[in-house]
Amino acid sequence: MRESSHLRATAEAYDAVAVPYADLPRDDLERFPLDRAVLAAFAEAVRACDGGPVAELGCGPGPVTAHLRDLGLDVFGVDLSPAMIDLARDAHPDLRFEVGSMDALDLADGQLRGIVSWYSVIHAPPQDIPAYFAEFRRVLAEGGHLLLAFFESEGEPLTTFDHAVTTAYRWPIDDLAGLAREAGFAEVGRMLREPCEGERRQRRGHLLMRKV
Ligand SMILES: C[S@@+](CC[C@H](N)C(=O)[O-])C[C@H]1O[C@@H](n2cnc3c(N)ncnc32)[C@H](O)[C@@H]1O
Repeated sequence: MRESSHLRATAEAYDAVAVPYADLPRDDLERFPLDRAVLAAFAEAVRACDGGPVAELGCGPGPVTAHLRDLGLDVFGVDLSPAMIDLARDAHPDLRFEVGSMDALDLADGQLRGIVSWYSVIHAPPQDIPAYFAEFRRVLAEGGHLLLAFFESEGEPLTTFDHAVTTAYRWPIDDLAGLAREAGFAEVGRMLREPCEGERRQRRGHLLMRKV
């Protein structure tokens, strides 16, 4: 795994909150039909293409990985935080979870059919995003799909916000889509939704991209 002070700080911050984080009510996807719709569209797009498994990068305790499994995908999870990976393995013993960083994956070129980053690239320093997307493209098969979920900046420029765990960024959706295009992805579609009751008051952004 690549070492950097930023990655170390992120891993330590998530290790420190892993147990209370995993105890948060995990009905999220039940409450959010638009999120489920995006994940279902991703799963359908992936199933229509050839290639290997799907990786959830930055999987935390694994609820989205498990949801992707329930959608019929062959999926595994990767996370920087060893404590998060322990929790994911305990909660979902039938699934594979590995410690690793999404910017330096221990995977061969073209090995994956799909990648989901569900609120995990939000922690990448913005100047590192091109390298993250280049790594995603390297491990995806031709035509492989990438799904990103993130906090959207609602017309404001790229900015940090008061994330409860560690430094995180709110992205203008056009900027993140532009960086993905520059890295060799075509946009398939996008979805913006407003926060629901009880959620952090920030717009959610979702981008579905395909390797070209
Ligand atoms: C907000 S949590 C989201 C967890 C999960 N996707 C979910 O929705 O429940 C962000 C996760 O991304 C992980 N993460 C952050 N940077 C990462 C990196 N470079 N590589 C792998 N995981 C990373 C963190 O350790 C954390 O578990």
